Amino acid sequence: MRSGVSAMARLTRGRWTGGMTRIQLVTGGTGTTGSRIVQRLQARGEQVRVASRSSECVLDWADPATWDPALRGVTGVYLAYAPDLAVPGADATVAAFTRRAAAAGVQRVVLLSGRGEPGAQRAEQAVQQVARGTGLACTVLRCSWFAQNFSEGQFAEAVAAGELALPVGDVVEPFLDADDIADAAVLALLDDGHAGRTYELTGPRALSFADVVREISAARGRPVVFRSVPLAAFRAELAGHGVPDDVLDLLAHLFTEVLDGRNSRPTDGVQQVLGRPAGELADHVRRAATAGCWT
Ligand SMILES: NC(=O)c1ccc[n+]([C@@H]2O[C@H](COP(=O)([O-])OP(=O)(O)OC[C@H]3O[C@@H](n4cnc5c(N)ncnc54)[C@H](OP(=O)(O)O)[C@@H]3O)[C@@H](O)[C@H]2O)c1
Repeated sequence: MRSGVSAMARLTRGRWTGGMTRIQLVTGGTGTTGSRIVQRLQARGEQVRVASRSSECVLDWADPATWDPALRGVTGVYLAYAPDLAVPGADATVAAFTRRAAAAGVQRVVLLSGRGEPGAQRAEQAVQQVARGTGLACTVLRCSWFAQNFSEGQFAEAVAAGELALPVGDVVEPFLDADDIADAAVLALLDDGHAGRTYELTGPRALSFADVVREISAARGRPVVFRSVPLAAFRAELAGHGVPDDVLDLLAHLFTEVLDGRNSRPTDGVQQVLGRPAGELADHVRRAATAGCWT
């Protein structure tokens, strides 16, 4: 009881006891998950530093000279590496960044990770190892594919144009609402009890890409077609639009290894962290259609 009361007292409105101000650094703070986390933290009166290559606080994963200025005075970090923890060298980069964070006095780090990706799991281990060695509290949010990929991310334009052609067949994926990730990240940054935990977050239902596109067609009241295409044709089409080889390799990895069925089973991770069920894709799709995502 006493420790609960003192934890509450420490965690009020962006301040630790002793008057030290809490500052949350949100990397990828302009992206799908980061922007939602920024909104939530600001709504709770937290001090937030948004960091990315295009933010006022510039942070570039490829330029370690930008890391220390971004970390100055920070107490908590949301770590969303881009383009993906699966790219070669990502584990070394996030481990080096976490070491700098600990040296700068950061106390908590929340790592966004991908489910069933060996590269992402190597990065998790690298960050956790640094955390153990430095006393930093670390929470991993290991996530399935985002529902927002269809409404804000890389597939949104094709969906709006009426046809989504991807190198994926009938495999099902429990698409996850980024609002659930943001809620979980904010809890892990602000509340006690999440240090050392890895939460496997998924949506509540496994759906195929064709199922998702059917939901979107119904919600927006205009047909969208899903077409499964061979990987080679998909690569050639994107290469023709100037997409570089490293991005093509990453996409090939995501559509083959990660979508081979290994991640099809929904988990109760959202319920574990948030004490409520994960958001339904159909609800996200209805909200996105109402917000005009595909018009
Ligand atoms: N999409 C999915 O289904 C899915 C599933 C599981 C895990 N993930 C993971 O989610 C992470 C991406 O997070 P997200 O979807 O929230 O972001 P996002 O929407 O992909 O946006 C990327 C963010 O990172 C920033 N960024 C891009 N390149 C950067 C660089 N070199 N240095 C620093 N910042 C950079 C971008 O801003 P600037 O352009 O201004 O730099 C932006 O804020 C990846 O690690 C991915 O593996 C995604």
